[in-house]
Amino acid sequence: MIVEIEDVSYTYPSGASAVEGVSLRVARGETIALLGQSGAGKSTLMKLVIGLLHPTRGRVLVEGVATTRTTVARLATTVGYVFQNPLHQLFAPTVADELALGPRARRTSPGAIRERVEAALAAHDLDQYRLRHPLSLSEGERRRVALASVLVGEPPLLVLDEPTVGQDALAKQRLGALLAARQAERRSTIVVTHDVEFAAAWCHRFTVMAGGRVLADGARDRVLGDRQILEAAALRPPALLDLRLRLAERGIVVDGDRPEEMADRLISDCRLPIAE
Ligand SMILES: Nc1ncnc2c1ncn2[C@@H]1O[C@H](COP(=O)(O)OP(=O)(O)OP(=O)(O)O)[C@@H](O)[C@H]1O
Ligand SMILES: [Mg+2]
Repeated sequence: MIVEIEDVSYTYPSGASAVEGVSLRVARGETIALLGQSGAGKSTLMKLVIGLLHPTRGRVLVEGVATTRTTVARLATTVGYVFQNPLHQLFAPTVADELALGPRARRTSPGAIRERVEAALAAHDLDQYRLRHPLSLSEGERRRVALASVLVGEPPLLVLDEPTVGQDALAKQRLGALLAARQAERRSTIVVTHDVEFAAAWCHRFTVMAGGRVLADGARDRVLGDRQILEAAALRPPALLDLRLRLAERGIVVDGDRPEEMADRLISDCRLPIAE
């Protein structure tokens, strides 16, 4: 297990109880979507994992070590976190410097740093911005810089907080491919998101939070195909699953993961007339 969250609760100093009795284990190679309404406790839970917050009750183990017994800097070598707001993690005067910060802090040799930075610039389509100030970039570009700067460290667990905000279709596709590649390398990723379509397309485990608790945790169709869960967490199912659910409620069972597949099955199984 890369992360074990054991019956964890967290109350902010203000008295707001954000996480209540959560237990969750993350294995290597898992790609998890963490879903839930605004205020459900998703970001707080992830801050507990990276050691930025310590549990009020219970404990969080990262690679077997309690977060209270190590440092945020050491945890960061295992868990890479890309903040909901990229402004929280952009510090350097240029994009290239930003990407070099992590390796430099880990005392990587200058040659290896250069190599990694070049690879990251190319992989994230940031080459043309290498000398730009990160804060002079657009929101979506800033997010790409923040993501690239975390990935340079090749963290075994990557946590992305709302990664699709401000991203166009191509950037989302790239992000999805990154998740798939990490999974193939047995690295883990947690995607905190309101983007259910994106999650349904690229994640294989779905954890839903509501009111600080875990409401559901499981495979896509079991979690997103359950009207009660969706309603309790105020989630809209992805369009395709929604269609399948609506049809199932009328006794029409249609399989298929792509719209074309479902349309073909509907037409052949239900003998629907095709408009001339
Ligand atoms: N720094 C803070 N001080 C006090 N209360 C906070 C703080 N940050 C969050 N909270 C409260 O904790 C609860 C959970 O917030 P959290 O940010 O974890 O939710 P979230 O699921 O990430 O929401 P969103 O989808 O809007 O990002 C909310 O009630 C919120 O108001
Ligand atoms: Mg949040």
